[in-house]
Amino acid sequence: MLQNKHILIGITGGIAAYKILTLIRDFKKSGAEVKILATPNALNFVTKLTLQNLSQNEVFTNEFTPKNWKPEHISLADWADIMLIAPASANTIGKIAQGIADNLLTSVACAFSKKIIIAPAMNVNMWNNQAVQENINTLQNRGIEILSPESGFLACGYIGKGRLCSLEKIYNAVDEALNYQQLLKGKKVVITSGGTIEEIDPVRYISNYSSGKMGLALAKSAYDMGAEVVLITTKDIEAPFKIVKVKSAIDMQNAVNEEYENSDYIIMAAAVADYRVKERAQQKMKKGDEETITLELVKNPDILIELCKRRHSEANNKEILRCAQNDVFAEESQTKPIIVGFCAESENLLENAKTKIDKKGCDYLIANDISRNDIGFGADENEVYIINKKGDINKLEKAPKNVIARKILECINIK
Ligand code: CTP
Repeated sequence: MLQNKHILIGITGGIAAYKILTLIRDFKKSGAEVKILATPNALNFVTKLTLQNLSQNEVFTNEFTPKNWKPEHISLADWADIMLIAPASANTIGKIAQGIADNLLTSVACAFSKKIIIAPAMNVNMWNNQAVQENINTLQNRGIEILSPESGFLACGYIGKGRLCSLEKIYNAVDEALNYQQLLKGKKVVITSGGTIEEIDPVRYISNYSSGKMGLALAKSAYDMGAEVVLITTKDIEAPFKIVKVKSAIDMQNAVNEEYENSDYIIMAAAVADYRVKERAQQKMKKGDEETITLELVKNPDILIELCKRRHSEANNKEILRCAQNDVFAEESQTKPIIVGFCAESENLLENAKTKIDKKGCDYLIANDISRNDIGFGADENEVYIINKKGDINKLEKAPKNVIARKILECINIK
C-alpha cells in the first residue's frame, strides 16, 4: 500500500529513538521511500550508520551542508508526502508549536504544508506539564495529528503516561493518512459552521448554542483527505486551510455564494438564525420605563434552499445550451456541487428530516438530535442519520465528531 510513497521521519533525542529502527524497516518493506532527519541529540541514541543502512538513504542532520541549489529544508519538505516525528521530545514539540526553526528538523516542519504526524515520548511529568499540553493543543488545532503516548514503565524509572505509542499504531496512522490523502484530492469542499450572530445593537445579539465543532471536524477531515477546504465560520479558528470569518446569516450567504464557483461539495453545518432584527440600532439601546419591549424580526434568507435553486438553474441553463448545440455527448446535467444540509431537531428527528430534505432540495441531510446532552450542540461526540434524496437512511452510531465527520465525507463521496 505504501509503494513509492515518500515518508520523512524526524527523530529527536529520546531513548525511544531505538524503536524507530523497526519502523523504518517496516515502511521500507511496504515499498515506501524513507528519508531520516535526526537532531544531533537523536544521534546519541541511534547511530547515523544504522539509520542510513535501514533507510537506504543519506541521513540528514545539518542544514549547512547543501548539495544542490535548493536549501535542504525546502528540498526535504517538497520531497515528502508525509512527515512523521517520532519520538518527539517536549523541546521539539514546543519549538514547532511556536514556529521556531533552529535546526533542520524544526525548519522542515516549519516549511511543511502536507500532513504531519507527531508521536511524543517523554517523562510523565513532562507530558503533563501545562506548557507541553498547551503546545500539543496548538498543534492539534493546526491539523497536526498527535499519537498520544501510552502509560507504562518509562525509561526514566517512572510509571505513567509518556511511553511512545505502539509502532503498529504509528505505522497504521501513516498508512491511513497517505491513503486518505487521495480521497478528495483535486476537490473543493466548502463548509459552514457555528451559529450566526444577528446584532440587535452594538452590544447585543441573537444567536444559538452551536459550537461549530461538527463543521470544524468536517473541514479537518476533508483537508486530511486532500481537498481544498474553505471553512466559512462564525468562530475564531486557526487552521491550515482557508477560513472565512463571518457574523450574520447575510454575511454567511455572501461568503458561500463567493466560494460556490468551482466547488465540488458544499456542506451547511452552520446553525443559521432564521430571523434577524428588522433594524439594528446604531447606538446601544437604553433601558426605558417600559416593562416589556418588542423587537421586530424579519426572516433571513435560507442559504441552503437558495444554493439548491442556484444549482438547479445553472443545470437547466447547461441543459438548454447542450440541446441548442445538439451536443449529445456532453454530460446529461450538472450535479456539481453536491449540497449537504444539516438538520437539528429536538423531536421527531427522522420525520422532520425527511420533510426537510424535500423542502430544501439538497442531496443529503445529516440529522441530529439536539435534545440529547451527550451529542449535538457543544458536545465532542455525535450520533447522526444520513438521509439521501430517495429517503434511504444510514445511521452513524455515537462516536467522536472527527470520526463522524470522516464517515459523512466517505458516504457523500461515494456516488
Ligand atoms: N439553513 C440555511 N439558512 C437558514 C436556515 C437554515 O442555510 N436561514 C440550513 C442550515 O445550515 C442547515 C439546514 O438549513 O443545513 C437546516 O437547518 P435547521 O435549523 O435544522 O432548519 P430550518 O430550515 O431553520 O428549519 P426549522 O428551524 O424550522 O427546523
